[in-house]
Amino acid sequence: MSDTKLKIPRLLQAILVIIGIYLGFILVFDVVLGQLIPASLLTMYMFFVVAGVFMVFTFTEESAQELVAPIKSLVDDPGRKTVRNIVFVIVPLLAGAATYYKMLPSFDAPVELRTIHPAPPSSLKAFGKRYDLLSLENPYRKFEKEDPEKFEQLVREGGDVYIRNCQYCHGDKLDGKGPYAQGLNPVPLNFTDVGTIAQLQESFLFWRIATGGPGLPKEATPWISSMPVWQDFLSEEEIWKVILYLYDYTGYQPRSWEHE
Ligand code: HEC
Repeated sequence: MSDTKLKIPRLLQAILVIIGIYLGFILVFDVVLGQLIPASLLTMYMFFVVAGVFMVFTFTEESAQELVAPIKSLVDDPGRKTVRNIVFVIVPLLAGAATYYKMLPSFDAPVELRTIHPAPPSSLKAFGKRYDLLSLENPYRKFEKEDPEKFEQLVREGGDVYIRNCQYCHGDKLDGKGPYAQGLNPVPLNFTDVGTIAQLQESFLFWRIATGGPGLPKEATPWISSMPVWQDFLSEEEIWKVILYLYDYTGYQPRSWEHE
């Protein structure tokens, strides 16, 4: 009777258990914790799982023999010559192919985790002065209500500053797609995206524009932003005007303490 019962070979059982646990880990992380399991953690878990499964499956002499029986018969059994020859050609070929594809160079830029909007310092040194970033405001913002004509003129001057200095990277549509953008990593930011200036205060922009990539704090490493240090090339007034232009063009309002 026992011959008619479908019996899964022990080796296959062991492999199925390992695969099941492997998928289980991925599922538990995905469904229960809502995130992907880190590859290094999965490797570590699976090392213990494989070791544990083989300990259980080789607990007695017979079970150990049963486990290796399919492998032994494949290697020894004269009747399985053809299968053996096929396996012994295919396995090295697969290993060779896997190694070959691993060695192919990848042209993707390395993944780097950057803090896009690091916390600004509380005060900023630029133009030989010290600015308190908490109270720093755009001196021209008030003209938006007080003198719209003058404000428009300031925005226009800001646009001039932008086209002369910024569009090479940030693009003439402020979308981060300037002619130099392709070669840069991190990429120049797209100001029309809600994730950039729309979330920021003008003082934050002043800090970032005046001190550029080199002004980024430590947590913004890797420290490879190509954003120039504009205090070396522009005046304080030009920076405030270009900020007006960025908001005017994109239609966003700068964040301010009052609106929050
Ligand atoms: C050489 C290319 C380049 C030029 C020219 C350039 N930028 Fe940038 N800029 C970058 C890159 C790259 C980033 C993104 C990395 C970073 O945050 O430093 C950036 C980021 C910024 C940010 C930060 C925005 C945010 O959401 O945190 C502001 C503001 C900015 N640039 C304004 C300007 C202004 C204004 C000019 C012109 C006066 C300018 N940039 C010119 C490359 C450039």
